[in-house]
Amino acid sequence: MKFVSSRRIRNLFPGYIENYFTYQSAFSQILSMISDTKYDCVLNLGNAKDGDITPVNVVSALAGHQITSEQDPFYPLIAHCKAFSREDLLGNPYYRDIRLEGCELGDFRVASVIDRQFEVILWNEVVCEKCGGLDSFVPCIGFWKDEPAPYYILQDKEGNGWMSVTFNEIFTMQPAVDEAKGRVLTLGLGLGYFAYMAALKPDVESVTVVERNEGIIEFFKEKILPQFGEAGAKIRVMQEDAFEFMPKVQDGEYDFCFADIWNGLQEEKPFYALRNLCGSSYRGMKMAYWLENSFLGQVATGVKAVLMEGFAEAEQEKTWLQLAISAKQLRDSGKYEFFAVADKLMQDVVIRTMEDIEYYWEFANIKKLCE
Ligand SMILES: C[S@@+](CC[C@H](N)C(=O)[O-])C[C@H]1O[C@@H](n2cnc3c(N)ncnc32)[C@H](O)[C@@H]1O
Repeated sequence: MKFVSSRRIRNLFPGYIENYFTYQSAFSQILSMISDTKYDCVLNLGNAKDGDITPVNVVSALAGHQITSEQDPFYPLIAHCKAFSREDLLGNPYYRDIRLEGCELGDFRVASVIDRQFEVILWNEVVCEKCGGLDSFVPCIGFWKDEPAPYYILQDKEGNGWMSVTFNEIFTMQPAVDEAKGRVLTLGLGLGYFAYMAALKPDVESVTVVERNEGIIEFFKEKILPQFGEAGAKIRVMQEDAFEFMPKVQDGEYDFCFADIWNGLQEEKPFYALRNLCGSSYRGMKMAYWLENSFLGQVATGVKAVLMEGFAEAEQEKTWLQLAISAKQLRDSGKYEFFAVADKLMQDVVIRTMEDIEYYWEFANIKKLCE
């Protein structure tokens, strides 16, 4: 990227970056409190009366101060903060119909995992919205307002998790479940959650699942599929690697494809590889990728780092140069594919005006460019 600075950019861009970091550091503070370690972030609301357990009080407890103004950088979290009860999980069709407690077969078993009351969880993907006028990614936090219900988690003999059905999976897969219709293809079987939810829909004719792991397929066929009732008759499982299977799919053979062969955002490679393979190959089949918005959100964050780096170098601005150096270190570590994607997107770009910066700051434009 070539960055040609100007007096206007010099006057406006530092304020832009500062504004962005005000919100970003508030959100990062919350995210660092909700780590993967169990029971890390349990709110101390033990004596609270029902009426006190509101999203504003919960976000205030996390922020460490009472939020009273819309200008507070923690404020955007409130609208997405959700209180959950047992019924929210147990009323989900999969939990309502399928009993997997203690099921074991071959290398796999289903364990039940239970959170604690007032434990803070991430229940959905980040949401892109304007914070202080600029695109930011707001985490969706939630908590159990009363006694939690146990989740299913599929583990192998070493105790590694292959798939769980927590609120996070339920909500992040729901847009794909809503979109599924006609002849549906899905890549990655796991616990068959998506396959079941799609097959329950009257406008879904069939669900073809492509899964490479024989043990997962056996577990599903023995322990899970027999509980699917009539919906199960729509489901067909094929043992194959998704990357070998997809090039053989004819356009129009399926109406909708949901790809989910990664365990989370940390597994970037299969996401980008599959998107490159399938991206523009199909007109008759709509493709959806689990966590796509979050992956592309990371690219948008990478693009912001590239812009800051360009500015810092053009201006020899010490503070921003320091930021740019840490971004560069992350990029050079080679650990994060999204940096490489962001670099590639920006490689031939010339930034000359504030409008150019504004264009590349917008998530909608980055999404368009990634297509
Ligand atoms: C997170 S799980 C999928 C969960 C599933 N969507 C559900 O609703 O239960 C990912 C699955 O993808 C499978 N998988 C990973 N890489 C694959 C590949 N290249 N081809 C086919 N399946 C793959 C894994 O074995 C695992 O069963």
